[in-house]
Amino acid sequence: MTRSELARAEDAAKRATDGQSPSALDHALSRLDIDPDDPSPVSDAEARFLFRLVRDHGCRRTLEVGCGLGKSAVAIMSATDGPHTVIDPYQDNYGRRGIANIDRSGLGERLVFVPELSCLALPKLVESGARFDFVFIDGSHRFDDVLLDFCYADLLLDSGGYVVLDDLWMRTVRLVVSFVRRNRKDYSLVSGAPRGLAVFRKTGTDRRDGMFHREFYTPRSFASHHLLVWLSSGQSPMRSAVRAIKSALLR
Ligand SMILES: C[S@@+](CC[C@H](N)C(=O)[O-])C[C@H]1O[C@@H](n2cnc3c(N)ncnc32)[C@H](O)[C@@H]1O
Repeated sequence: MTRSELARAEDAAKRATDGQSPSALDHALSRLDIDPDDPSPVSDAEARFLFRLVRDHGCRRTLEVGCGLGKSAVAIMSATDGPHTVIDPYQDNYGRRGIANIDRSGLGERLVFVPELSCLALPKLVESGARFDFVFIDGSHRFDDVLLDFCYADLLLDSGGYVVLDDLWMRTVRLVVSFVRRNRKDYSLVSGAPRGLAVFRKTGTDRRDGMFHREFYTPRSFASHHLLVWLSSGQSPMRSAVRAIKSALLR
C-alpha cells in the first residue's frame, strides 16, 4: 500500500456520509454477484453480525485477511465510513469478483487492497506504523497461517479493539482460538457471536514472560474433535442409522 493509496482511501472516507443502517447492508448484500455454489463466503447471519460489531463499537480503522467474494468486506465497510484494508494474493482465482462486489456496492473508493500473502503484508503494515480497531481473519486456514495472522493482528490492534476469526468448524482455527483463550490473558472472548465466528476483544497488554506456556492442545478437545469426525464419517453407526432411516422413508 503506497502513501497516495492510503491518502485516497482516507479522503473517500471523509467524504462518505451514510450507508450505516442495517437496511443499507441488506441492500448491498442483495446486490452481490455470488452464486449458491460459490466457495465459502461468510453467511448472511455472520455478515450482519460483523456489520453490527463494527458499527456499534465505532471501529473506524478496519482490516481483513482474505477477500474471497468480498461479502465480509461489504458488511464491514457498510458499517463504517473509514478506509478498509484487505489482504489477498489470490483474487485472480476468484475472477476478481471480491473487488468487483465491493465496487458495485459503491464502497470501492475506501478499499485499500494489498495483493500479497498475509504473512508478508502484515509485518509491513506493522512496520509502517498502521493501527486498527478491528481485524477479520479469513485467509489461509492452515494452523500456522491463522496463528501468524492473529499474532500480527495483535501488533496492529489498539487496546479495546476486536479480532474475529472465521470458520470455527475447522480444527486449525479452533486450535488457534484455544491457544488465545489459554495463553493470552490480554484478550477476552466476546459471547453472542454466530457459531462459525470467534470474537476476541483486546483488553490489555501482553505481560507473559519469555517462558510462559499453557497447554491448549487438550485431550478433551482432541477426543471430541476425532469423535465428531468419526460420527460424521461413512463408517460410524450414526451415519449408517441415518442412511437406513432415509432409505426406509423413501421406499
Ligand atoms: C474463504 S475466502 C474469504 C471469504 C470472504 N470472507 C467472503 O466473505 O467472501 C478465503 C480467502 O483467503 C485468501 N487467502 C488464502 N491464503 C491467503 C494468504 N496466505 N493471505 C491472504 N489471503 C489468503 C483466498 O484467496 C480467499 O480469497
